[in-house]
Amino acid sequence: VFSNIAQAPEDPILGVTVAFNKDQSPLKVNLGVGAYRTEEGKPLVLNVVRKAEQLLVNDQSRVKEYLPITGLADFNKLSAKLIFGADSPAIQESRVTTVQCLSGTGSLRVGGEFLARHYHERTIYIPQPTWGNHPKIFTLAGLSVKTYRYYDPSTRGLNFQGLLEDLTAATPGAIVLLHACAHNPTGVDPTVDQWEQIRRLMRSKGLLPFFDSAYQGFASGSLDADAQSVRMFVADGGECFAAQSYAKNMGLYGERVGALSIVCKSADVAGRVESQLKLVIRPMYSNPPIHGASIVATILKNSEMYNEWTMELKAMADRIISMRQQLFDALQTRGTPGDWSHIIKQIGMFTFTGLNSEQVAFMTKEYHIYMTSDGRISMAGLSSRTVPHLADAIHVAVTS
Ligand code: LMR
Repeated sequence: VFSNIAQAPEDPILGVTVAFNKDQSPLKVNLGVGAYRTEEGKPLVLNVVRKAEQLLVNDQSRVKEYLPITGLADFNKLSAKLIFGADSPAIQESRVTTVQCLSGTGSLRVGGEFLARHYHERTIYIPQPTWGNHPKIFTLAGLSVKTYRYYDPSTRGLNFQGLLEDLTAATPGAIVLLHACAHNPTGVDPTVDQWEQIRRLMRSKGLLPFFDSAYQGFASGSLDADAQSVRMFVADGGECFAAQSYAKNMGLYGERVGALSIVCKSADVAGRVESQLKLVIRPMYSNPPIHGASIVATILKNSEMYNEWTMELKAMADRIISMRQQLFDALQTRGTPGDWSHIIKQIGMFTFTGLNSEQVAFMTKEYHIYMTSDGRISMAGLSSRTVPHLADAIHVAVTS
């Protein structure tokens, strides 16, 4: 019955890793998927995560029972505090419902399905460009996806005018997806002033903010600074959705730990929203896994471990910033034509290089450098050892 089934293409991001794994060259470098690597090019398990796991293993009272549909209660409470701030009035007034989901993707999907069922406006505007999975997640959740201008290739910065025009022209009441910080793939964020203008415009048109927060602590190294955009929207008392991921900032990629929070106008509404979220989750995956959420909760509720986490997080963010400088310097040294200052101006895990798909294909074929075809490179995958190789490849790609 499946003899006519077509071969599906590989995922544009995760497929890069598939191709990388097949390459036998000792020179190969994977700058595709956004996953942190050490200077030695190895995946990193944070020390504080190892400690938390040890505590969990040694605790004989722990059992493997099902979690509630909404997940681990402690984890949910602590996650809401982490993103909205410990003194958030929305939390104090119990206007927030938080449910544990399967990392960022699962949180976006659950939020999308809830909106498709219960919100009066099914259109969601996503930035152009955005993470490749966003349009697929929201389309399959039952929403209708449109885009707003975000990036200006000529300045390699924000197209703020275009963004304001598109949100002004958006269907009133529509949902707007916003990257909380460290925009993926461009590494370009609005300034605080620009966020304030976006907030005022969106509130005046009744546009519903849906934040994707996958890099809290990774953009500036400060968890509070990286949540500022979200907190500005919550501070005005309006509704707000936020999807959180612990993949990058705690290095819990494969544990699939994340949370969806919905800020409502009253505690009563939040309770009813939560009851409906349970109806979305139960037939999808019943209830979430326990291990990763327990690691996060252990770290977030212990001030010593929390401090250790912030230090390890800052060290990861700093290493990425130093990779930016090293790559920029290496291109300057080679006299590579073009303005490469965006490498040090953009923030977060990625640099949107401006290289086109032919140049990317050339670099993969000739230099065994793997990256997404839109020219995005994961700075977290670079090391002092691989910077010269990448700089050579870019130099030849743009001069030949
Ligand atoms: C990325 O953009 O590389 C990450 O968010 C990983 C993923 O799942 O695509």
